[in-house]
Formats: sequence, structure tokens, C-alpha cells
Amino acid sequence: MHKNNMKKPLACNTLQIDEATSSRRLRRMRKADWSRRMVQETHLRVDHLVLPFFLTYGTGVEEPVDAMPGTFRYSVDMAVRLAERAAKLGIPAIAPFPREKAEIKTDDGSFIQSPDNLINRAIRAIKKEVPEIGIISDAALDPFTTHGHDGILKDGIILNDESVDMVVRGALAQAEAGADVISPSDMMDGRIGMIRNALDQHGFQDLPIMSYATKFASAFYGPYRDAIGTQGVLRGDKKTYYLDPANSDEAVREAEQDLIEGADLLMVKPGMPYLDIVHRLKSTFRMPTYAYQVSGEYSMIKAAGINGWIDEEKIIMESLLAFRRAGCDGIFTYFALEAAEHLRNNS
Ligand code: PBG
Repeated sequence: MHKNNMKKPLACNTLQIDEATSSRRLRRMRKADWSRRMVQETHLRVDHLVLPFFLTYGTGVEEPVDAMPGTFRYSVDMAVRLAERAAKLGIPAIAPFPREKAEIKTDDGSFIQSPDNLINRAIRAIKKEVPEIGIISDAALDPFTTHGHDGILKDGIILNDESVDMVVRGALAQAEAGADVISPSDMMDGRIGMIRNALDQHGFQDLPIMSYATKFASAFYGPYRDAIGTQGVLRGDKKTYYLDPANSDEAVREAEQDLIEGADLLMVKPGMPYLDIVHRLKSTFRMPTYAYQVSGEYSMIKAAGINGWIDEEKIIMESLLAFRRAGCDGIFTYFALEAAEHLRNNS
């Protein structure tokens, strides 16, 4: 029986190949650089990169993040310089994340709606001096809450609708500051529709929404909490609103819901361990799909690179190409500057 199976002609597209299989040599086009270039299926360009970075108060500050060697917290004036550098390299967009000061934190995170919070100050300053770069602003409560959650916490429960109301106000404040894309990352139900309505009612009908549609309850965010100063702050975990890392069908339902509510772009987060989700969303919805190579992914590569255990530059480029192969239209990566420089020097 086994023998019979082996004798059966192999189906190769439309051709039925039998003895011809023995002359098939898959290595023929791999033999030289020129021929490999001819059959390369996916490419990474600078257009595919988005640079996330951290903000802090003060002037002239560029403060290293311990858990993410090579990344910094920038005061607003230095963030403008960073944006200039990114724009010069051709990076299309940046994504600021604020380390807010303890004094402004409240249980309901209401400082998210202040025009004077760090993210809004940075948006205004960058839009004034580097208008050509896109700013994708994170509409989330975690930098502003005393408990580090992305929602309003009451008696141990994250209140959905109250949290959405507050995120909507934050999104409007970001739109007014000049953000180019609003990206809610809180995973509350109904937030995309509510934000879309509010934006439309306030004259921002042309402002796109990038939904963190599938954000998983992941330990890969660990170093980010050091970066924005919520590591000791977070009470409990985010499992009641972020997705279970075990679930893929539910991720599709989340993305579908956000698209129905008006999301223009989808985000999968974290990135590398969730490329199957990227592939599934892209092939299901055919919408612009982004992924976030998050802090833990960054720090793992960086730590191994610093120790000389891996070739950091090659690993960065290979990992970014893998995102593209899986179906990503773009990647949020703390390596965006290095990757853009590599692409500039090697093309
Ligand atoms: C929360 C938020 C998170 C990240 C950015 N915004 C996750 C979290 O703290 O739960 C993680 C980014 C990263 O790890 O690089 N709104």
C-alpha cells in the first residue's frame, strides 16, 4: 500500500509529473545573488516602518530605558529632533508613548483629555516643525491611571463603557493637537464606533483610525512598562480585556467587529509570536494590517546582540522581513531607525 502511494504521480499545479520529478532542482535559482533577487517574493522598504518612542518631561532630556538598551525617553524638544531624523531617513510615521508624571495620575485617567499632557504637547511640537511625518497617537488610559490599567477600575472590575467615554475624550484631544491617525489600544468593546462618531461630529471625518484590534494579554510587554514607568504600578493583569494568547478565532471576531465599527487599519500586537494572526487577518479581510514588534521582542534581540550571541543587524532585518512575508503592510518597531539606515546603505 505504501509502495502504491509512492508511485502515484505528484500533482504539481496543473502538471502531472512522474519521472520528471527527478529532474526538478529547487536550488537552480538560488545559486547567485542576481537570480535570488529575481525570485525574491517579499521586500522590506523604509515605507513599511513605524517608529514607536517614549516621551518624558523636561528639556534637552534623552534618558536611556534600562530594560530596552538603545532606546530613550525624549523630552518634547528632543522628540522633535528624533522626528526630523526619522523623516530624513524616509520613515513615514512615528508613534509616541508618554511616561507621565505621578502627580497627574488618577483612578479614571482623566488627564488623557488634557491638551497639556505629554503626548499632546509632543504632537503639536512635532507637527509644527516636522509636518511631513505622520503621527500615530496611542489613545489609551494606562499612562494616566494610578493602577496602570487601560480602563477605569472599580471594585476590581474594568468598567467598559465608562472607559470608552474617557478614551473618546482622549482621542478628541489628540485629534485637536494634530494627530494624523488615532490608534486606540485599550480593547474595550465598542470603542472604535464611539471614537469614529465623536471624530465625525467634531469635523475630523478624514482622520483614520488604526485599531489595535487584536491585542493579546502578553508578557512580551514587560520592558515597555519600565519605559513608561508603570511596572510597579499595574495592579493585577489585563486578561479581562486583552485577548487570550490561545485564541485565533476570537481574534478574527475582534478584527471584524472593529472593521464594522469603522476601523481603517488593523493592528496585531505583539508581533513575531503572533504572525499566524497577521496572516489570518490579512487573508480574511484584505485590509491594511500592521503588527507591533513590542518591547519584549526588542529587548530579547538586543540582549542577545549585546552579548554577541547573535548577529543583531541580520536578525533585525530577517525578523522585519518575516512580518512582511506573513502579510504585514507595516511594522511598528523600536529598530526602525537602524533598519532604515540598513536599507539606505544596502540598496
Ligand atoms: C497599553 C500599551 C501596551 C504597550 C503599548 N501601549 C501594553 C501594556 O502595557 O499592556 C506595549 C508596547 C510594547 O511592549 O512595546 N496601552
